[in-house]
Order: sequence, then structure tokens, then C-alpha cells
Amino acid sequence: MRHANYVMNTIVLLFSLILPVAVLAAEQPEIVCIQCHSTMPGKIGEPVNLWRGSVHAENGIACNACHGGDPSDAANAMSPARGFLGAPKEKAIPAFCGRCHVGVHTDYLASAHGRALGKGGPTCVTCHSNHQVLKASLDLINEKSCTRCHSFERARVIKAAMQETEAMIVGIDARIKAYKATGTDTDKLEKGLFAVRNRFHTLFHNVDVEMVKKESTQIQAELKKIEAVLQGLDDSRHKRKIAGAIVVAGALLAAVFVHLLRKTYE
Ligand code: HEC
Ligand code: HEC
Ligand code: HEC
Ligand code: HEC
Ligand code: HEC
Repeated sequence: MRHANYVMNTIVLLFSLILPVAVLAAEQPEIVCIQCHSTMPGKIGEPVNLWRGSVHAENGIACNACHGGDPSDAANAMSPARGFLGAPKEKAIPAFCGRCHVGVHTDYLASAHGRALGKGGPTCVTCHSNHQVLKASLDLINEKSCTRCHSFERARVIKAAMQETEAMIVGIDARIKAYKATGTDTDKLEKGLFAVRNRFHTLFHNVDVEMVKKESTQIQAELKKIEAVLQGLDDSRHKRKIAGAIVVAGALLAAVFVHLLRKTYE
């Protein structure tokens, strides 16, 4: 009886958790910001379509998450009393994005780029754009983008060091996944890689060539430790295979031997 109750309660609980979400997803109207802006021409309407394909749209960061305002009341949507911030001026952009990307903001402010803010340095949107922000990758470091202001030489060194590390991370990730697929406990390896990868992705914004090179060396040393553990797994798997082969071969030999013995005595 208690058990049946428990099951019933669990089912009720699950439904009460799932249903509202399902209903919300089905019925939630578009926020008023999008309803109105998508009908506007030019610079006022453009952000909507650019934003739709962005990493922010994908993660539920809508117009009001960045610009403030009231997304459910068309008449007061852009009222400062409802927290509307408007569009930030160039110098205010890093802090505007930095409300959520705190670590990046700190690194940026301390960098040559942050020090040149308002004096010819790039802001977040120079490299990431404002509305069509995509998942970040090293492809953002390219001649076209970086040579708008200076030569590509220093950028090239940073990119090379980071690409080398990235390749190691991708390779290790694939090896861990392969072991995981065979049922090996890869928890510790995954956590180790996760930590190193996070550290790696905080590297870029200081744009300090020496620091990136030095940090890359340290990160690669950490990655080599993970590779050594994987090598250990490879080796013991190899040994197990050989041992397995020896056992099978031994059993076969024994069978042949017994067979021959029988033949001899028959
Ligand atoms: C009823 C139509 C309407 C709604 C609803 C609306 N907007 Fe606007 N928005 C406009 C128009 C028109 C402009 C351009 C004129 C102006 O700045 O008032 C504008 C301008 C803006 C700007 C540029 C302001 C600047 O400083 O240059 C931003 C940012 C913005 N809206 C964001 C939002 C957000 C976020 C919401 C929802 C919380 C929203 N809007 C809701 C019509 C609307
Ligand atoms: C990730 C944060 C972010 C989101 C989300 C976002 N915006 Fe913006 N928006 C900005 C920034 C930053 C600027 C200032 C851009 C600049 O100067 O390059 C801006 C500028 C604008 C402007 C002024 C455009 C101009 O060129 O003068 C409008 C209008 C606007 N946004 C509307 C919207 C609407 C509508 C949405 C939702 C569909 C939206 N924004 C979502 C960050 C965002
Ligand atoms: C209201 C919080 C918020 C604001 C403001 C905001 N973002 Fe984001 N951003 C997020 C979230 C949430 C994600 C998705 C999760 C993640 O990857 O961190 C994201 C993802 C990103 C990514 C992809 C990260 C990756 O892992 O590849 C970039 C790049 C980015 N944002 C840049 C910006 C820029 C540039 C601005 C300012 C124009 C901005 N963000 C403003 C919350 C915000
Ligand atoms: C000079 C160009 C440039 C500027 C300026 C810049 N970024 Fe980036 N950003 C990049 C590059 C390149 C990467 C990819 C680094 C990587 O793959 O490790 C990146 C990565 C990111 C990520 C993903 C980091 C992660 O941990 O995965 C976020 C979020 C981000 N930037 C936000 C911002 C914000 C916010 C600002 C402004 C304070 C900013 N960026 C300024 C070029 C830039
Ligand atoms: C809007 C202009 C602008 C853009 C775009 C830009 N930079 Fe810079 N960058 C600067 C300024 C200004 C400085 C500081 C003066 C200098 O060292 O040239 C600087 C300095 C640097 C430095 C030297 C940092 C140091 O501490 O010595 C590196 C490295 C660098 N940028 C890399 C990049 C990369 C990589 C990109 C492209 C993803 C990029 N920059 C895009 C303006 C820009």
C-alpha cells in the first residue's frame, strides 16, 4: 500500500513538474519586444533576425535580458521605470556584456584591448558582434578581423599556441569518450579535462603573447598528465588482449593434445 502511494505520489509530482513547462512551451507568446521590433524597418527591426540564430537565443537570453525593460507590457516595455537600459554606447559595452560574462570582462579590462577602450581598442561586439553572437572559437582570430587595427603577427603567435592546445584537448576528449563507450569509469578523467578546458578558454582575452605562450605550456603539461593515464589504460587493455590470446591459444593446444592422446590410445 505504502509502495503504491509512493508510486502515485511520484507520478503526480512528475506531472506537476512537466505539465506547466509543456504548457508554457506551447502557449508562451512571443515577448512584446520581438512582436513590435520585428515589424520595424532598418536598424530598429534588424536585431530580431540577427538574434534568432545566436547562442543567446539558443540559451533563452532574449532582448530584455540584455536591454532590460518589460517583455510582457507593450505600452511600458521601454520605460526606464521597468529597468530599460537602451542601447549601450561604445565605452559602456564591456560592462553591459560583463554583467553575465564576469571573468571575461575582468580579463578584457586588464588587457591592452581594455586599456585602449574608447581610444581605438575593440569592444566585445567588435569581435563577437552585438546580436548575431555565435559560439566562440579560435576562428574568431583571423586576418580579416584582427588587421582592422594592427598587424596579424602577434595574433598569429597566440592562435598557433592555442590551436596546438585545442588539438590536444579534442584528441583526449575523443579517447575518453571511446573508453566511456566500453563501460570504463572515466569520471575522473572527464572532470580533469573539463577543468583544464575551462582554464584554456579563459586564456584569450588578455591578448598578452608571452602570457598566452607561458600558460599554454602549463596547460599542455596538465594535458600530458591526462594523456599518460589514458596511455596506462591503453597498455593494460593491450596486455589483457595478449593475455586473452595466450589463454585461448593454450586452450586450443590442450584440446589438440588431448585429441592426439586419445587417438594414440584408441
Ligand atoms: C510597441 C513597439 C515596441 C516595443 C513593444 C518595444 N520596442 Fe524597442 N523600440 C521601438 C521603437 C519604435 C524604437 C526606436 C525609437 C526609440 O528609440 O524610441 C525602439 C528602440 C529600441 C532600442 C534602441 C534604443 C536606443 O537607445 O537606441 C532598444 C535597445 C530597444 N528598443 C529594445 C527593446 C526591448 C528590450 C523591448 C522589450 C522589453 C522593446 N524594445 C519593446 C519599438 C518598440
Ligand atoms: C547579448 C545582448 C543583446 C541581446 C540579447 C540583444 N541586444 Fe540589442 N544591442 C546590444 C548591444 C551591445 C547594442 C549596442 C550595439 C552596438 O553599438 O554595436 C544593441 C543595440 C540594439 C539596438 C540599437 C540598434 C542600432 O543599431 O542603433 C536595438 C534597436 C536593439 N539592440 C534591439 C534589440 C532587440 C529587439 C533584441 C531582441 C531581439 C535585442 N536587441 C537583443 C546587445 C543585445
Ligand atoms: C543576461 C546575461 C548575458 C548577457 C548580458 C550577455 N550574455 Fe553572452 N551568454 C549568456 C549565456 C547564458 C550564454 C550561454 C551559456 C554560455 O555559453 O556561457 C552566453 C554565451 C555567449 C557566448 C558564447 C560562449 C561560448 O561558450 O562559446 C559569447 C561569445 C557571448 N555570450 C558573448 C556576449 C557578448 C558579446 C555580450 C554583450 C553584447 C553578451 N554575451 C551579453 C548570457 C549573457
Ligand atoms: C579581439 C577580439 C575579442 C574581443 C575584444 C572580445 N572577445 Fe570574447 N572571444 C574572442 C575569441 C577569439 C574567443 C575564443 C577563445 C577560445 O576559443 O578559447 C572568445 C571567447 C569568448 C567567450 C567564450 C569563453 C569561454 O569561456 O568559452 C565569451 C563568453 C566571450 N568571448 C565574451 C566576450 C566579452 C563579454 C567581451 C567583452 C568584455 C569579449 N568577449 C571581447 C575574441 C574577442
Ligand atoms: C578595433 C581595433 C582592434 C581590433 C579589431 C583588434 N585589436 Fe588588438 N589591439 C588594439 C589596440 C589599440 C592595441 C594596443 C596597441 C598595440 O599594442 O597595438 C592592441 C593590442 C593587441 C595585442 C598586443 C597585446 C599586448 O599586451 O602586447 C595583441 C596580441 C592583439 N591586439 C591581438 C588582437 C587579435 C588576436 C585580434 C583579432 C581577434 C585583435 N587584436 C583585434 C586594437 C585592436
